[in-house]
Amino acid sequence: MRWAALRSLFCGGGAALALALLLQGRPVRADIPIDVSSTDSLKSACKEIAAPMMEYYAQNQTEGIPGKLTDTWYVAGAMFMTLIQYWQASGDNQYNSVVSHDLMFQAGRNYDYFDSNYSRWLGNDDQMFWGLAAITASETGFPQVDGKPTWTTLARAVFQMQADRWDMSSCGGGLDWQIHLWQDGHTMRNSISNGGLFQLAARLGHFTKNTTYLEFAEKIWDWSVDSPLIQPQNGWFVADSTEGKNNCSDSGDMQWTYNYGTYLAGCAYMYNETRSEKWLNATTGLLARLEDYFFPKEYGSNVISEVACEKLHTCNRNMLCFKGWTTMWMAYTAILVPQTRETIVPKLQGSATAIGKMCDGSSTLVPETNLCGNRWYQDSFDGIQGLEVQMAALGGITANLMLLTGTTALTIDNNPNAQEHYTDTSDDEATPGALPGITTADRVGSWMLTAIWGLGIAAASWWLIKQ
Ligand SMILES: *[C@@H]1O[C@H](CO)[C@@H](O)[C@H](O)[C@H]1NC(C)=O
Ligand SMILES: *[C@@H]1O[C@H](CO)[C@@H](O)[C@H](O)[C@H]1NC(C)=O
Ligand SMILES: *[C@@H]1O[C@H](CO)[C@@H](O)[C@H](O)[C@H]1NC(C)=O
Ligand SMILES: *[C@@H]1O[C@H](CO)[C@@H](O)[C@H](O)[C@H]1NC(C)=O
Ligand SMILES: *[C@@H]1O[C@H](CO)[C@@H](O)[C@H](O)[C@H]1NC(C)=O
Ligand SMILES: *[C@@H]1O[C@H](CO)[C@@H](O)[C@H](O)[C@H]1NC(C)=O
Repeated sequence: MRWAALRSLFCGGGAALALALLLQGRPVRADIPIDVSSTDSLKSACKEIAAPMMEYYAQNQTEGIPGKLTDTWYVAGAMFMTLIQYWQASGDNQYNSVVSHDLMFQAGRNYDYFDSNYSRWLGNDDQMFWGLAAITASETGFPQVDGKPTWTTLARAVFQMQADRWDMSSCGGGLDWQIHLWQDGHTMRNSISNGGLFQLAARLGHFTKNTTYLEFAEKIWDWSVDSPLIQPQNGWFVADSTEGKNNCSDSGDMQWTYNYGTYLAGCAYMYNETRSEKWLNATTGLLARLEDYFFPKEYGSNVISEVACEKLHTCNRNMLCFKGWTTMWMAYTAILVPQTRETIVPKLQGSATAIGKMCDGSSTLVPETNLCGNRWYQDSFDGIQGLEVQMAALGGITANLMLLTGTTALTIDNNPNAQEHYTDTSDDEATPGALPGITTADRVGSWMLTAIWGLGIAAASWWLIKQ
């Protein structure tokens, strides 16, 4: 995620708001009624929210490249992560072929989510989100793609590349935000990069039972606690970043939900796998701070808010997404560490109910759909629109579905589909370059998927215009 891109998005946010104000004379749409104890109600809310998200996705692809959105690369990866979890929790498979194709497409020529089209300007956090999408696919038993590496193989490739970037040149270790020497931020250690790799490693360890991942996860955690990033003695404060040029003696203290969420979920996986008090302690500590700080009392203490930017509408495109991922990570925590369920449930339910009230926006860009805004605590649409806020809302409601339906798999043992493929390709995993090349059949297959997708959009647009 680059700050230059962020700056342009501030302007984008302003434009969206201006547009919304212009449209205020339009007829008011209805809320999405949400009954948090009913899977049917949650599923139908998700459907209404996912449809415009996919419309934005189609509109914002760069030159039709699958999984590449204008001015950002990682957001689509995070969207696939959300959609796979949504599919697992709801059974709605209408987007699976797009997700499967585009998620595999962006693995790139070396199957490592580091394709040379983008690798010059990527940060570790960008690549990491695709890794999390891949491990989510493994855990949920998302269908594999014939003739391609397994989802687990892709997640392992991301892990391995990032583990090899561990930076001992200062701070006693840590993963840098940016990868290349020419990028600002290549000496900075930030929480989403370290917490993201921590979560990926913990999930790989939990899923494959290979202790190498668990050991590396613990190494990242211990380093984070020794650095200013995680401060257990300071009420489990999580800083955003710390600078390697100062040997990590300072910290950037902006408060973001996802920094807490990513470390929290990683701890929950570690606890579920190891049963060690260390991880239970960290899980409950981080959770308490997250629940206290990001569920403001003024909105009833049960609706999550990105407090640093929501009120003034200064959230950029990235910030609009954070709380959606965070709510899903809280749902994992409730499932993996049953002791935490009691405090998490009301927070996720309160947030979902709030989302239902707020998703009553309409727009000329995506007509006749329920558009969501950014401030979940507000009773109606706040004018912020786009893929990012739809994704966040989808995540917030999916988190509640996860609480009701549980997760079916999460480990290879419970997941015959993943196990079979995992063992099948394990010989190839060290050398992704040796994996089967792209065959004509693959190309025809992907061409057909694209064509079917295109036809679907055309049909949907035609239908909408007809209405
Ligand atoms: C995304 O798509 C919408 C609709 O086409 C467009 O208005 C908006 O500018 C696009 N955003 C970006 C960042 O390309
Ligand atoms: C890389 O860029 C080329 C040229 O625009 C495009 O055809 C190809 O699909 C891109 N690959 C990925 C993985 O985005
Ligand atoms: C930098 O920080 C690390 C980890 O805290 C410490 O071990 C090391 O001694 C420090 N180096 C300097 C030059 O202060
Ligand atoms: C565990 O994972 C590491 C890192 O990917 C790999 O080098 C090692 O071979 C794996 N061990 C087993 C038993 O699969
Ligand atoms: C639990 O966390 C507290 C900080 O909140 C710390 O002081 C204590 O040592 C931790 N206990 C264990 C067993 O890790
Ligand atoms: C681990 O998670 C499962 C749900 O996937 C749960 O049933 C089990 O109790 C958890 N284990 C521990 C030690 O909390």
